[in-house]
Amino acid sequence: MSRKILVTSALPYANGSIHIGHMLEHIQTDIWARFQKLRGHQCISVCADDTHGTPIMLKAQSEGITPEQLISKTREEHLKDFQDFHVDYDNYHSTHSEENKALSELIYSRLDQKGHIAKRTISQLFDPEKKMFLPDRFVKGECPECGSEDQYGDNCDNCSATYSPTELKNPKSAVSGATPVLRDSEHYFFKLPDFEKMLKQWTRNDHVQEQIANKLDEWFDAGLEQWDISRDAPYFGFEIPGAPNKYFYVWVDAPIGYMASFKNLCDKTEGLEFDEYWHSDSDAEVHHFIGKDIVYFHTLFWPAMLEGADFRKPTKVHAHGFLTVNGTKMSKSKGTFVKARTFLNHLNPEFLRYYFLAKLTSRVDDFDLSFNDFIARVNSDLVNKYINIASRCANFISKKFDGHLANGLDDHPLIKEFQQSADTIANYYENKEF
Ligand code: MSP
Ligand code: ZN
Repeated sequence: MSRKILVTSALPYANGSIHIGHMLEHIQTDIWARFQKLRGHQCISVCADDTHGTPIMLKAQSEGITPEQLISKTREEHLKDFQDFHVDYDNYHSTHSEENKALSELIYSRLDQKGHIAKRTISQLFDPEKKMFLPDRFVKGECPECGSEDQYGDNCDNCSATYSPTELKNPKSAVSGATPVLRDSEHYFFKLPDFEKMLKQWTRNDHVQEQIANKLDEWFDAGLEQWDISRDAPYFGFEIPGAPNKYFYVWVDAPIGYMASFKNLCDKTEGLEFDEYWHSDSDAEVHHFIGKDIVYFHTLFWPAMLEGADFRKPTKVHAHGFLTVNGTKMSKSKGTFVKARTFLNHLNPEFLRYYFLAKLTSRVDDFDLSFNDFIARVNSDLVNKYINIASRCANFISKKFDGHLANGLDDHPLIKEFQQSADTIANYYENKEF
């Protein structure tokens, strides 16, 4: 039976380069999508750059260019990185697009009509010089628990305490250095608790891996809360309809970017219908490949938004663990932060594809790229086994058989055995055990 399958990777932020941690995800997605295509299914893979939010706005300012210029430059770079790693999306779009604006407005207005949006005034730190509200990561100060200096507004690097930015001692704006002040503003909230019953069922129906379902149980026990989905101007994003100077928080329109990239592809592809994949009773499959850090967004907010706006929910969210390099978190100072481009400048992309394929599993565990293991694996598996088969065969064929192949195959039982393994192999691939 031929299936209709839409596959996505998480949308990389448009304010930084693709590194080999990102590549882990894009290679996993690419292998899975290629496999589905080889099986003869209608499989479409899409991605896009995630272009909105404060960090992108500020980065453009610091480079003296517009956010539009920044995101278009970055998109070119990202696309080239993926192409050179043979990661082959059917469409690579941008969240700063007409399609995404229209779909975000549609989804929001449906949620609003059905009463899933609340408004209330909250008090937040405001930079009086830069005249903007400060996201947690843009406030720095002393940790309220251990007193360690120069800590971010959400958690402490030194003692791992989590807190709100208003609890920091001697807070400073990371943007201007000014001392922030508290200021009130009306915010819009998505009423996630409205969807608790649906989510509890959905997450227990093979839509997520078991490790994730267990994590979700902890979140359900802690209780679902309303989600703050608005940000005040100045903000690079889409304005909320009917709310001047209020913008959708980047994480609202980011997953909608999956739909928007697909819509953009439909508009240029004869016979590909948006509704066939996204209508609430669609029989197509939607598979999201993501990292474990963004599970909350994809398994709670996203299915709830889709349900509330009368679209279908994902078939499966596939989460992977984090890549470490030589046993530690990738770090610029330790020389273990490897950009995709740096790898390409020195090595064959197939080496990394193979290494990831060999180590990836269906589980959410982290895994390490150790340079020694990488070298050993490539030399022993790719060079000494795989390439060696070709080289030995070539040798036999030319030396003993005058450069000619036989007219037919002689070991039929062996061929049969290969052929009969197809389903077993396919099963492993389907389950991400490459
Ligand atoms: N823009 C959001 C995703 C929006 S999806 C609607 C984002 N971007 S990101 O650039 O920070 O990360 C993109 C993806 O790369 C995420 O799935 C993230 O988990 C993954 N990874 C980032 N660093 C990684 C590793 N070191 N290892 C494995 N995956 C990593 O989050
Ligand atoms: Zn601390």
